[in-house]
Amino acid sequence: MTFLCCFLFDLGFWVSGILWVLITLHVFEALGSIKFPYVYPDPESRRLRAAVAKDSGLESDYILAGCGADELIDLIMRCVLDPGDKIVDCPPTFTMYEFDAAVNGALVIKVPRKADFGLNVEQITDVIEHEKPKCIFLTSPNNPDGSVIDDEALLKILELPILVVLDEAYIEFSGIESRMKWVKKHENLIVLRTFSKRAGKENLHFSVVSSEAYQQSRRGHRTSAITGNNPNTSA
Ligand SMILES: Cc1ncc(COP(=O)(O)O)c(C=O)c1O
Repeated sequence: MTFLCCFLFDLGFWVSGILWVLITLHVFEALGSIKFPYVYPDPESRRLRAAVAKDSGLESDYILAGCGADELIDLIMRCVLDPGDKIVDCPPTFTMYEFDAAVNGALVIKVPRKADFGLNVEQITDVIEHEKPKCIFLTSPNNPDGSVIDDEALLKILELPILVVLDEAYIEFSGIESRMKWVKKHENLIVLRTFSKRAGKENLHFSVVSSEAYQQSRRGHRTSAITGNNPNTSA
């Protein structure tokens, strides 16, 4: 019995050792095949943005690549909010908006969705008029219920003096078209997309923001990348 245990232990040791060596060789081989490993990667992700532009039909000047939608949600808040500013959140929905608002010292005004998970546009309008929040986070399809925001509701909200961040993380599963191209018509709209759901590539964690404000900043018309045309925004 003791002999068997020792044998199995030794076997495990050797097998894991050999596997480790094989994996290391594989990693070295992959690293060795990179053409310019000593050069920083393109900080503007130009090739990636060009590919996304081709896929989406929206010019790459409007597109910003980030490390997952989570990073971009935080980035938007850092660009737009000062501590004490307000955002609108429509629960039940993705909880990162509330989390990142807390990280950025912002207050969250909650306008709960209706029983059918539709947006309460009347209450959203009221809150925006009276509380003057700087941005609203809308998710379509919504996490967790999958409901989609219709054009009428979205257009009404886009007419209000607020930066609208439309999170389309699950758009590929809805059968409806992305509103990415809407950013050309609506200066106060930012659309978020991600590969983590579409391609099941959680590890790649790449996502895009499309926004008119970002496009203008690239052409030198604005100083900050993501501001939106928001009368409630002092930036
Ligand atoms: C609605 C929604 N937006 C964004 C994300 C985060 O996406 P990413 O994996 O690109 O950070 C999630 C993740 O669950 C999500 O449900």
